[in-house]
Amino acid sequence: MQENEQKFTSGNVNYYIGQNSLKFLSDYLKKINRFFILVDENTEVNCLPVLNKILSKDITGDIIQIKSGEDNKNLDTCNLIWEKLTNFNADRDNLVINLGGGVITDIGGFTASTYKRGMKFINIPTTLLGQVDAAIGGKTGVDFKEYKNHIGLFSNPESVFIDPVFLNTLNKRQLRSGFAEILKYAFIMDPMLTDIINNRSFSEIGNDWGKIIHKSAIDKITVVEKDEKENGFRKILNFGHTIGHALETWFLKTDNPITHGEAVAAGMICETWLSHEFTGLKEDEMDKIISLIDKSFERIIFKSDTFDDLLSLTKQDKKVRGGSSRYSLLKSSGEAVFDIPVEDNWMLRSLEFYIMDK
Ligand SMILES: NC(=O)c1ccc[n+]([C@@H]2O[C@H](COP(=O)([O-])OP(=O)(O)OC[C@H]3O[C@@H](n4cnc5c(N)ncnc54)[C@H](O)[C@@H]3O)[C@@H](O)[C@H]2O)c1
Ligand SMILES: [Zn+2]
Repeated sequence: MQENEQKFTSGNVNYYIGQNSLKFLSDYLKKINRFFILVDENTEVNCLPVLNKILSKDITGDIIQIKSGEDNKNLDTCNLIWEKLTNFNADRDNLVINLGGGVITDIGGFTASTYKRGMKFINIPTTLLGQVDAAIGGKTGVDFKEYKNHIGLFSNPESVFIDPVFLNTLNKRQLRSGFAEILKYAFIMDPMLTDIINNRSFSEIGNDWGKIIHKSAIDKITVVEKDEKENGFRKILNFGHTIGHALETWFLKTDNPITHGEAVAAGMICETWLSHEFTGLKEDEMDKIISLIDKSFERIIFKSDTFDDLLSLTKQDKKVRGGSSRYSLLKSSGEAVFDIPVEDNWMLRSLEFYIMDK
């Protein structure tokens, strides 16, 4: 896999990345006898026309539309999708095209993989978060009761088409959300990406989006290639996510939910501080990382009376082993380590650091 390659295969998945990579789709679909396109109401309006413009007129698929948003990433929506596939007489050798953000690729991958013991599917991510993260790596599934991503399976799409054209209609807040994951790759594994970002906020990236998306997607593919089922190394992708997930879940219950990226940005600040305390991250590197995050993300406001709730939310996390939470932390800027035990009082101190630091 080359740095600038637009088309390559990794672990049986074909990747098409970059501007105009969608042009490969027509040829691809000519070989398929029937396909279905899964959309939500926003991607139906904003992304389906882009796709249809690229496909030749004789290539059409049936549309399956679901409601947008995390609230709908559940088994009820799966039932609707399975019902539609059944009514369409869909067969195992047909294809599902997931056209949307992480919600669509997660639920679309799951429903396709379980329908008649598994249909083929491809991902066409349309959010920045989807393009650099959710559409890659084979994790599919839905939320169950209050548990996020509780039901699901590892199942890979046949292909992933990552074309920045879709980002033109994405709002600023969603774009910024994906940028948190890009910063994460820079911090955990990719000093070159840090150089390309060159101290800019997400709104100053301009013409470099293509390069940055390409590099981030390849970073994720590289990690997944080494440890597909998250037995070890893949856990480095959890940097910022132990505390990030706790914040995301806590704010979901309020009138002001925050995006995944906003939560992860805050989590990365706390966990960067923990990295300085636990895994030898130098103070000047810590300062640089935190200031780069602060350039794109305002600090989230929460008070110390929420700390205990947040702590217990990290405890429900899948990464908990025998009472002590294990974190993925930074050894240096560009290198991460995983399974680092962090005691509760240190987690609380990192929250204190977050709210006091500014
Ligand atoms: N499987 C994985 O490895 C993985 C990794 C990270 C996140 N995820 C999952 O991804 C989900 C979050 O993904 P997301 O941030 O993409 O959210 P999302 O799919 O909810 O999309 C965000 C919003 O943008 C809209 N939208 C999508 N593309 C658009 C476009 N091009 N123009 C205009 N609007 C558009 C959607 O309709 C939605 O309202 C979560 O459920 C998370 O658990 C999965
Ligand atoms: Zn994430």
